[in-house]
Amino acid sequence: MSPQEKAAAIAICKGSRPIAALTCYDYPMACLLDTAGTDILLVGDSLGMVVLGFPDTTHVTLAHILHHLEAVARAKPQALVIADLPINTYDTPQQALETASKLAAAGADAVKLEGGIRQAEKVRAITSAGIPVCGHLGMLPQRVLEEGGYHKKGKTPEQTRAILEGAQALIEAGVFAIVLESVTPAASREITAAISVPTIGIGCGNGTCDGEIAVITDLLGSFPWFVPPFAKPEADLATQTNDAARKYIERVRRS
Ligand code: KIV
Repeated sequence: MSPQEKAAAIAICKGSRPIAALTCYDYPMACLLDTAGTDILLVGDSLGMVVLGFPDTTHVTLAHILHHLEAVARAKPQALVIADLPINTYDTPQQALETASKLAAAGADAVKLEGGIRQAEKVRAITSAGIPVCGHLGMLPQRVLEEGGYHKKGKTPEQTRAILEGAQALIEAGVFAIVLESVTPAASREITAAISVPTIGIGCGNGTCDGEIAVITDLLGSFPWFVPPFAKPEADLATQTNDAARKYIERVRRS
């Protein structure tokens, strides 16, 4: 399937079945998650925090994303591969298109960027070149420094209306889906019901969006230093890794 067909296949899930998306940053994980049947693999800029050891996503560069995206793309996933446009790489429509083109050339089927109305022209520039775009609204991690932390969104009717207006602007510009991050359950439901493209939620509450995305380290329990309150780990790889390393060290030292 072409990237455009893959993105269209995600878009038509709205109203028919929930979308299951995971972040992914390397080749073996891409093989495993793809075999499991994940709909979307996101090479997200959460990479900076859960793989590269930065305090937030504002340190992530295009070179970082390209390096990890290329590894994921080598798995030739059936899933739609989305890559994040890192902060400061989409400040103008022209720059957004250049960055998106580099990500597409490195194996991304689609790209994702943060923000609403003020990003519409950038989305239009990218989609006009045939590269599918996913929006990202609600809490925007790339703005964590300006906003002084991670704050829940959609707490007031004004906030919900602003997210909705952003969503409509992104849809008119051609996005095929929108990630909603840390939006209250009521606002997520309202936005999901009001818009024509799928919402993919994280930290928005169960069943409030058309799909869900999880950061893979939250699912696997492999990054124990920060676990968001909404994470639902299905494994405890941090403990298992520690145990395996201890057993190996003991074995080597005994021999
Ligand atoms: O970078 C990322 O992992 C993301 C998800 C939180 C949606 O954008």
